[in-house]
Amino acid sequence: MNRIGIAFDIDGVLIKGKFVLPEGVRAIQRVKAAKVPFVLLTNGGGTTEVNKARELSEKLHTEIKSSQYSNLLVIRKMILSHTPMAHLAKKYSQTETESVLIIGKDSCKKAALEYGFKYPILSGEILAVCPEVWPFKHSVNNYEPTNIDRKVGAILSFHDSEDWGRDIQIVCDLLRTGGDLRHVVEPKHHTHRRRHYIGQQLPIYFSNGDFVWSNNLPLTRFAQGSFLHALEGVYSRLSGGSKLKYTMYGKPHKPTYDFAKHAIDTYAAELYGADALQDSGRLYFGIGDNPESDIEGANRAGWTSVLVKTGVYEGGKHEANLLVDNVEEAMLIPTENRK
Ligand code: G3P
Ligand code: MG
Repeated sequence: MNRIGIAFDIDGVLIKGKFVLPEGVRAIQRVKAAKVPFVLLTNGGGTTEVNKARELSEKLHTEIKSSQYSNLLVIRKMILSHTPMAHLAKKYSQTETESVLIIGKDSCKKAALEYGFKYPILSGEILAVCPEVWPFKHSVNNYEPTNIDRKVGAILSFHDSEDWGRDIQIVCDLLRTGGDLRHVVEPKHHTHRRRHYIGQQLPIYFSNGDFVWSNNLPLTRFAQGSFLHALEGVYSRLSGGSKLKYTMYGKPHKPTYDFAKHAIDTYAAELYGADALQDSGRLYFGIGDNPESDIEGANRAGWTSVLVKTGVYEGGKHEANLLVDNVEEAMLIPTENRK
């Protein structure tokens, strides 16, 4: 089983909201027993890789590692949407004078710190300095006030915004001021109100562009892509028609598939020796429920795409190489029929 590698999507393939799909449990047990190098490749996130691996291990009743160290190789096994963004820590937030704004729940900050960002900050830490930034929600703010003398060098959306209104306001404030929080919160800087006319002043990165995702409810839920859609609309109106410039990670984008391929190859090398690292004949399979992310991404990467019917996909036309009822069925398709 050295000649194949598999990337399993999580939501809609292995689990569905609070529920575990039994076919998913059996599929993971099969690939582990057959020593197939695989990764879990999700557009979900908002936590550390270690925590996600622990959560899934419990749900799937089988040990899932986030990564493992072998012969000085780091084998990534749990790839969250923001995992490939870790390399940005070399570029931003390395000095005392620069922070990065992280969008997503509080645990995203822990992930950012683990990636090496020295000063990641959350929206709540800006509101702790100045609640008038988003004066419509009067919940208790338990955050430490951020240091406004530290400039925000980039905005990194790691996960779904917990408060779209608050985060769209703060992101636009930072885009318009080049990340200078003093010009956001100090009234004396009112002369800078017209700054947005000189264009976007700050880079912004998103960890995935999924518009919806699937849990146990009948209708799909909004994902990060729908937040981006709302932000683009507001920013365009605010800036007199400018288009928001951003960089996208996650499925279906190339950096994420390059990262996943390297992770699979490294896993193969651990199982089958160093030669397996460079195996040009390896077939890669991307199994997922979302035609726009999992199938599009696998197709663009030149992998075999396998669409399952247990998640977002609701029937009709699709671009997948294979369509199966569930992930366990994908395990039963003979390798020679796979593309
Ligand atoms: O983008 C929403 C996220 O929950 C999708 O996760 O595992 O289906 O890529 P997954
Ligand atoms: Mg999915």
